[in-house]
Amino acid sequence: MIRRVSLIASIVIFLIAAAAVTIRIVAAPSAGRAASERLGMVYPAVIAHRGASYLAPEATAPAYILARELGADYLELDVQRTSDGVLIAHHDDSFERNTDVAERFPSRAKNRVADFTLAEVKSLDAGSWFNALHPDRARRAYRGLKILTLEEVIAIASAAGRPVGLYIESKGPEMYPGIEQEIVGTLALRGRLDPRRLVFQSFSRESLKAFAKAAPAVPRTYLVDEKMERDSGWNGLVGAAAEIGTGMGPVGYVAYPWNLGRAHRAGLVVHVYTVNAPWQFSLLNFFGADGFFSDRCDLLMEYYGRKPAAAPGDILEKFNY
Ligand code: G3P
Ligand code: CA
Repeated sequence: MIRRVSLIASIVIFLIAAAAVTIRIVAAPSAGRAASERLGMVYPAVIAHRGASYLAPEATAPAYILARELGADYLELDVQRTSDGVLIAHHDDSFERNTDVAERFPSRAKNRVADFTLAEVKSLDAGSWFNALHPDRARRAYRGLKILTLEEVIAIASAAGRPVGLYIESKGPEMYPGIEQEIVGTLALRGRLDPRRLVFQSFSRESLKAFAKAAPAVPRTYLVDEKMERDSGWNGLVGAAAEIGTGMGPVGYVAYPWNLGRAHRAGLVVHVYTVNAPWQFSLLNFFGADGFFSDRCDLLMEYYGRKPAAAPGDILEKFNY
């Protein structure tokens, strides 16, 4: 009986080990590392998704300053354009979810970003929603926080004592013709068109082509969601990414090792979004991810064995938040 149990246990252990080795071969993580190094990108990459957006209101100054000070490699932002032509960091189509637009401009609460001037955007409170939704993480100084311009995010990234990258998404680019050239122009003006510290990203192939035209040396990540994977198939998306960019940014649900392996073998870097739990970091890292977009850059750094310079609370206090 004991001999039979130990035989079964040995077979199970062997099968698990064989599966683990197979997954690593299929995922080809060394090709992802090589592609990252060839492009001068950080490997593995800690990409602070809308800043340290678990601990501070997304895409605001404290979110980006905290991510920078914690040691994130890239600050992630979604860029849109106001009605008077200013580039701002904002994710949603409207301001409804995370500002007081319904109180300030009741008749226009559902309007699109492009319907507001910069002065109107700057009059919104982009912090109080966070305090109301997350009382455990609320801070008095979050009240009244402003939406940032692209220039302001660039300034935050540039104020670090070390090079901090920017990972810039053109959000809804079909609504903003020419925005890629404007983003590139703004970065150039600020001396931030450095391919080793900058990545462009988009769900739109056309937008990535426009980035390629405006700044060919800067890496470009083709973002992929579940619907795109269902509609086009993974291989089709890898082909498109290889044609117009240098990497893929799949949602975690489609980041299977065989998918990541195909992308790696096509010479692409794979950064998975939006991953916030340590068990997910472990699993997807094992599946070959070259880095993550995360709201929890604090936990991701810890996962990669990188010690932050200070505790998040101390950093926020140091910068008067
Ligand atoms: O940019 C990576 C990830 O942010 C894409 O999703 O909707 O958060 O911009 P989203
Ligand atoms: Ca984004």
